[in-house]
Amino acid sequence: MAKKSSGRGRRDLTVKVKTARGRKLSSTRWLQRQLNDPYVQRARAEGYRGRAAFKILELDDKYRFLVPGARVVDLGAAPGGWAQVAVRRVNALGEKADKAQGRVLGIDLQEIEPLPGAEFHVLDFMADGADAQVRDWLGGPADVVMSDMAASASGHKQTDHLRIVALCEAAAEFAFDVLEPGGTFVAKVLSGGTEASLQATLKRRFDKVANVKPPSSRADSSEKFVVALGYRGRPD
Ligand SMILES: C[S@@+](CC[C@H](N)C(=O)[O-])C[C@H]1O[C@@H](n2cnc3c(N)ncnc32)[C@H](O)[C@@H]1O
Repeated sequence: MAKKSSGRGRRDLTVKVKTARGRKLSSTRWLQRQLNDPYVQRARAEGYRGRAAFKILELDDKYRFLVPGARVVDLGAAPGGWAQVAVRRVNALGEKADKAQGRVLGIDLQEIEPLPGAEFHVLDFMADGADAQVRDWLGGPADVVMSDMAASASGHKQTDHLRIVALCEAAAEFAFDVLEPGGTFVAKVLSGGTEASLQATLKRRFDKVANVKPPSSRADSSEKFVVALGYRGRPD
């Protein structure tokens, strides 16, 4: 359905999706955006499980936390795009013989298709004892806890914002229990202001806290990421 341009010899490659009967306008818009999104196309071409992979790639290009040998916990890892990036960067398959071999452990409420170099488990990170269970699977603390988790959307902007902030606060608490001193916490948040207390907590617990909107994060979404580096450990 490529739209032909009126200009001679030029082609406008924007894909237009007809509003099919039975398809809601919002689904038509979503489909049209997917079909015209360069990151969706790149993800397909480069073999990533989703465009989300580029967000962690861009964050890591800037802050360099996925280093060879790192032990990574990926919260809300399905379908596995972030884990694919982490496996390569931490050398989880041991392909770079001269570099340390890392670990990637992903958990999610849903099953994740197996990925060489990663270990996946179905687990609610908020379940009692989930932090101890993850440390156990990992055989010790983690160097990186990263979360791309999203609370299910209610459609009410403020409710959704509060839910994702609560999820992020819970993920941070989880990270405090699982991270090694010096470790990194990365999480998706939504901009809006209510996350001030989370920012304050992170600033006490980490040497550096940055709020970032990576280029691949859609400009029309209020999503951003917090990257907290240099975990200081629990005060106790
Ligand atoms: C946006 S997706 C993650 C995409 C992933 N980063 C990737 O690159 O493929 C968010 C995931 O968080 C998971 N999630 C939400 N709440 C969770 C919870 N309490 N425990 C574990 N996973 C959760 C969802 O099931 C969903 O698969």
